[in-house]
Amino acid sequence: MKSIVILISGRGSNMEAIVRACATEGWPARIAAVISNRPGAAGLAFADQHGIATAVVDHKAFANREAFDAELQKVIDGYAPDLLVLAGFMRILTPAFTAHYAERMLNIHPSLLPAFTGLHTHARALEMGCKFVGATVHFVTAELDHGAIVAQAVVPVQVGDDEDSLSARVLKLEHRMYPQAVRWFVQDQLQIEGGVVRQTAGESQSFI
Ligand code: GAR
Repeated sequence: MKSIVILISGRGSNMEAIVRACATEGWPARIAAVISNRPGAAGLAFADQHGIATAVVDHKAFANREAFDAELQKVIDGYAPDLLVLAGFMRILTPAFTAHYAERMLNIHPSLLPAFTGLHTHARALEMGCKFVGATVHFVTAELDHGAIVAQAVVPVQVGDDEDSLSARVLKLEHRMYPQAVRWFVQDQLQIEGGVVRQTAGESQSFI
């Protein structure tokens, strides 16, 4: 039975999708805690209602990133996770933190990486005239929004689309893709070779 800790900063809809999939699909895993860097994060209430331990480590209470990450790591490690899942966790992490969770920390980013790292991904894709947008689940490394790609979801851009309409369509796919990627991890079905991730049971890592 693997232990999962999920980090959020806000709404937490991806966290919700993972919690529900873990319960309904009977994964060999439990969600040990949901932790937020923002005291008012809406997702904390959902976790609480589902009997999951919650914690807040407010980044505003720390003088620098190193101090915040050190405290966050301490709180996370209190739950002894096998896997750390970033689900809309909007913080840049220090190299010491990413090294500590190397190959056991996943993130979801709303773009087809390596394109559009950082913020406002769909708006920037529209500005560039991209015909497809999407989302990527990847292992986290010290470099922001880099790291071996576990799965990608693609959405075609239609006439009249704006940032909101694209976010909504991509989010639906995120909710399918992220739980599957987490399930693969807990079932030991992810193998990283030369920076490339293979799903060892042959399930598709592409979501459309
Ligand atoms: C999701 O769309 C996720 O891809 C994005 O934030 C949203 C969180 O929604 N993540 C990032 O931008 C990370 N850089 P949620 O809180 O409802 O899961």
